[in-house]
Parts: sequence; structure tokens; C-alpha cells
Amino acid sequence: MPRTYTITVYDRAKGIKHTLEVPDDRYILHSCEKQGVELPFSCRNGACTTCAVRVLKGEIYQPEAVGLSLELRNRGYALLCVGYARSDLEVETQDEDEVYQLQFGRYFGKGKVRMGLPLDED
Ligand code: FES
Repeated sequence: MPRTYTITVYDRAKGIKHTLEVPDDRYILHSCEKQGVELPFSCRNGACTTCAVRVLKGEIYQPEAVGLSLELRNRGYALLCVGYARSDLEVETQDEDEVYQLQFGRYFGKGKVRMGLPLDED
């Protein structure tokens, strides 16, 4: 028998708070959608980070969250599309592209990116 946990989701973009019950054997995003709660998503397989949330309270099990670095997981981010509740939860949606920027922003656009090899000087 699956256990059921209570999750509170603060949807920051819409300024709405949802509180619902989710079983521990289904992806959280899927459970929310089945109950009529629409949250951001794109790939649905743990790769794009569109569905990322900050975990304010509780524990999410997310072994398939390949798109989220260990550093960001340790900082309390989780992907709802491949996340399972392991306790009652309180989460908030990220600011737009926040997780993507945290992961890749320092590599794209900020550093010195060289396109191709330097030209021979002679
Ligand atoms: S929707 Fe792409 S990582 Fe969750």
C-alpha cells in the first residue's frame, strides 16, 4: 500500500498556494496534474529543470533527476516530474530559469568562450 503525504506548493509565478495529497509511489508532478493542479513542466523526464522547485520542508526522492546537479540537489532543489514524496512537503516553484542559470549560467554567457582555434600568426 502506498503511503500518502501532504504537499503544499507555492506557485510563485501565479501567486497561488496548492495543498494536496500525493502518494509516495507516483511522480509528484503527475499526482498534482491528476488533481487539476497545473505546474510548470517541459520534458517530463528529469532533464530540463523546468519543473524544479525549492524544497522548503520535507524530503523528495529523485534518483532519475539527471538534469539537476548534486550541488543543487544538496542546496534543496528538486524536480517534481521525477520526484517522489518521502514525507509531508512544502515546496515553492523557482523563478523563471533560475535552476538552469545556476547550473549553466556560469558556463554560458559569462565566461570566456572561444569559438574555434586561434589563427596562426604567420
Ligand atoms: S519537466 Fe523537465 S526536468 Fe521536469
